[in-house]
Amino acid sequence: MITRALIAGCGGYLPERVVPNDRLGADLGIETSDAWIVERTGIRQRHIAAPQETASSMGAEAARQALERAGIGAEAVDAVILATATPDQAFPASAVRVQQALGITRGFAFDLSAACTGFVYALGMADALIRTGQARCVLVIGSEVFSRILDWTDRGTCVLFGDGAGAVVLTAGEGGGTAADRGLLSTHLHSDGRFGDILLVDGGPGSNGQCGKLRMAGREVFRHAVSKLAAVVDEALEANGLGHEDVRWLVPHQANRRIIDAMGKKLKLPAERVVVTVDRHANTSAASIPLALAEAAGAGLIERGDLVVMEAIGGGLTWGAALARF
Ligand code: COA
Repeated sequence: MITRALIAGCGGYLPERVVPNDRLGADLGIETSDAWIVERTGIRQRHIAAPQETASSMGAEAARQALERAGIGAEAVDAVILATATPDQAFPASAVRVQQALGITRGFAFDLSAACTGFVYALGMADALIRTGQARCVLVIGSEVFSRILDWTDRGTCVLFGDGAGAVVLTAGEGGGTAADRGLLSTHLHSDGRFGDILLVDGGPGSNGQCGKLRMAGREVFRHAVSKLAAVVDEALEANGLGHEDVRWLVPHQANRRIIDAMGKKLKLPAERVVVTVDRHANTSAASIPLALAEAAGAGLIERGDLVVMEAIGGGLTWGAALARF
């Protein structure tokens, strides 16, 4: 028998304010159109955080829901890993703020920076902690306030992102060491700094204050996304002796509908097996996969035993995939 990280519960949080595409021009003076955004990206609206909301406050809300759905009390949490590119401040880590908000005073908490791949990286770290016996219950959170790092005069980027948070609770369980086990089967992480300048934030962190702005060479990022995501998904399936036919759900990073559709096609999955939230959430970076998981699991779509593929690419460039059986 080996130790596996089981997904015990998923939660999400979205700020109350919704900004549909057609309000971007009317309210914010951006020269764009609903038709341009929908055709290029599939995005129809995004949620925008209220002034007092931060990565930690939204992350805590998502974590509360994940713990509640898992039926696990906060006192059982050994570690909190918060993936974010928009922490409240440089330190304390926003993960420690989440710990405090949940009333956790033991164990440890830290932030992880891998841009839009942050949640997949965080799953990898949590899996390692659980497999090596350093923790039995880990809260993995992705929480982002991208509205504060967007250049609202750059229509090529500001229409693409939104704010939100998602979380999963991972708990130690046992498996036979085969791909039939429940829990995280494996994570596959990559980065290549040669492409650091095609997607970056040109200043320091601080979702509660002054910070740099996001810059992106959209076409180049798109090109990398399609090839790197396809390769890493194959890598993950091969590592577990699995094929496309074994995949029940694709829960991809939600950046662009065209990239999502290309990945669904690659896996030969019918559209109803691909979880899509980008139309309503836009790109919430590290929060997008756990938010999509929370929505699909909360609606009872993902069933016990289903094999789920998660994949993401982001600034760094970073990219990765995770395979989990629910
Ligand atoms: N509304 C209207 N027109 C816009 C616009 C907007 N919001 N943003 C850009 N345009 C215009 C440009 O100015 C350009 O006009 P021009 O031809 O007169 O110069 C034209 O649309 C095409 O711009 P371009 O940037 O080449 O568009 P594109 O077809 O590459 O689409 C993205 C842009 C960003 C949607 C696309 O490149 C993309 O999705 N990239 C991947 C981004 C991504 O997923 N990033 C996150 C990874 S984590």
